[in-house]
Amino acid sequence: MTLNSFFIVLDGVDGSGTTTHSQLLASFLEYKGFKVHLTREPSKSEIGILLRKYLKNKEIPPTTDALLFAADRDLHYHNEIKKKLDEEYIVISDRYIESSIIYQSLQADRITIEWIKKLNKFVGLPDLTIILDIDPKIALARKTDQDLEKFEDTTFLDKVRDLYLSRAKQEGYYVINSNEIIEFVQEKIQNIVLEKLGIIKK
Ligand code: TYD
Repeated sequence: MTLNSFFIVLDGVDGSGTTTHSQLLASFLEYKGFKVHLTREPSKSEIGILLRKYLKNKEIPPTTDALLFAADRDLHYHNEIKKKLDEEYIVISDRYIESSIIYQSLQADRITIEWIKKLNKFVGLPDLTIILDIDPKIALARKTDQDLEKFEDTTFLDKVRDLYLSRAKQEGYYVINSNEIIEFVQEKIQNIVLEKLGIIKK
């Protein structure tokens, strides 16, 4: 991190609003005069596009998912995120390593958090991680059956949520209850970010 560059990740269980809140945060910081680069994972690379296809396919081995998410992130970090940070942008990523640690380690017993960390060891870590928390039953109730991706099943997502919460405690991540009105949740996110950037909100 240089004086102006800052790497923020919003992560959380499916349906917790990481995409909406990343977009709102990017607009807010741009309005405040920062150079902002908004991005997401799976990324827009060919590996990311393949991964989005695989999110609909239950036949893909979890180890393949883990390897591809790590490859996508490696490319994403070195060809995009790092470049923007070097140009003193604030980078906001909608999901990052924490998604792999949680979703892939819960997909199969043979996939350990240690192995995921090893696969992801050559990318830079965020300066700030905020976890958005919601009860998966509430989040999934908004979707129709046809929209559902392979991880969007309440039993699996309950485990995802529990692991996000225990990892957040262990790693000292901020956790925000996302089951409140959007403006209220966004304001909490903005306050954390401004505090980290050393700016007092007027
Ligand atoms: P999501 O971010 O919700 O995208 P959309 O809003 O387009 O559905 O979906 C991405 C899914 O990919 C989500 O279920 C979590 C999963 N995922 C992983 O399993 N591992 C990862 O490393 C990443 C980045 C995402």
